[in-house]
Amino acid sequence: MRVFVTGASGTIGKAVVKELLSHGHQVLGLARSDAAAKQLKDLGAEVQHGTLTDLDILKKAASECDGVAHLAFVHNMQDYIGSCAVDRAAIAAIGSALESAGGNRAFVISSGTSLVANGQLATEDRGFDESDPFRSIRGPAESTALAFAEKGVRVSIMRLPSVYGEGGLGFVALMLAVAKSKGTIAYLGAGENRWPAAHTLDVARAYRLALEIGRTGSVFHLVADEGVRTKDIAEVLARKLDVPVVSISQEEALGTLGLMAAAMEIDNPSSSAKTREDLGWAAVQPSLLDFLESGAFLEQQETLPSWSQRQNE
Ligand SMILES: NC(=O)c1ccc[n+]([C@@H]2O[C@H](COP(=O)([O-])OP(=O)(O)OC[C@H]3O[C@@H](n4cnc5c(N)ncnc54)[C@H](OP(=O)(O)O)[C@@H]3O)[C@@H](O)[C@H]2O)c1
Repeated sequence: MRVFVTGASGTIGKAVVKELLSHGHQVLGLARSDAAAKQLKDLGAEVQHGTLTDLDILKKAASECDGVAHLAFVHNMQDYIGSCAVDRAAIAAIGSALESAGGNRAFVISSGTSLVANGQLATEDRGFDESDPFRSIRGPAESTALAFAEKGVRVSIMRLPSVYGEGGLGFVALMLAVAKSKGTIAYLGAGENRWPAAHTLDVARAYRLALEIGRTGSVFHLVADEGVRTKDIAEVLARKLDVPVVSISQEEALGTLGLMAAAMEIDNPSSSAKTREDLGWAAVQPSLLDFLESGAFLEQQETLPSWSQRQNE
């Protein structure tokens, strides 16, 4: 397949590009900077210069490919409503181009397991929590994409947990952001809330499988660890960094993390039973706690503060 990948220079996008290329597919990657373009060329991908708001460019690139993996997202928490509007407009543009091109082309978009109601087991057949003021901002991107499933486009929604390894740490980066400014690793309250997780390489494989064989209208949970207690994560991090581990209040988290503090209290156990069955997918990489225990994240620290700090700028 020739696949148009948005967000091809991002943490997960990069892994998806490598996964596709190493399985005989061709990649046309969206790049908004020379650095991103070079990175893509070095990997062996073709480059489409442009941004998420260049809708005509997105449409043209999509129509010239057999499928699209949409991973770009403007991670600006100061204007999350605006970022989500950009996301939906891009999805609508790409979807309409694939619809016009015909041929049941694949369209794989990125979402999050944390959009499902807090504190309940998130399964693939549950929708995003429309009653929640925060989840209902990004959630409609799923509906925007799924609308094309009825119009001859093979749509898959990829709901991601905290993705770690190969340059990223998902929500775990928030704990490191606190450590950087306070010198302690913190969890919220009793630390009983759970974050689901998966390794970048396992996630990338699932994107490829969804592009290749995903049934239209599918929602996939790319979840390896169903839910890891935040206190357990904090304890491993604190031990590896040799700093104290503390419980903090929501107010303290707000002071340090700004708008991202809300993520610290997310309780999002998530199942991937249906995804495993539908895609024949299983995680083979180390679990989140094993990955942290290995200390591999220590080498990544300087590159970590991407979205975890950007929201405070
Ligand atoms: N990582 C996780 O744990 C996680 C969890 C849940 C959901 N997700 C979702 O999964 C997707 C991929 O996440 P990620 O962690 O790989 O994100 P990331 O590392 O922040 O990468 C974001 C990508 O989007 C591109 N981008 C941002 N603004 C753009 C714009 N205006 N025009 C064109 N490209 C733009 C970036 O390009 P530059 O390289 O030029 O900046 C980069 O390639 C996102 O939708 C994210 O919200 C991720």
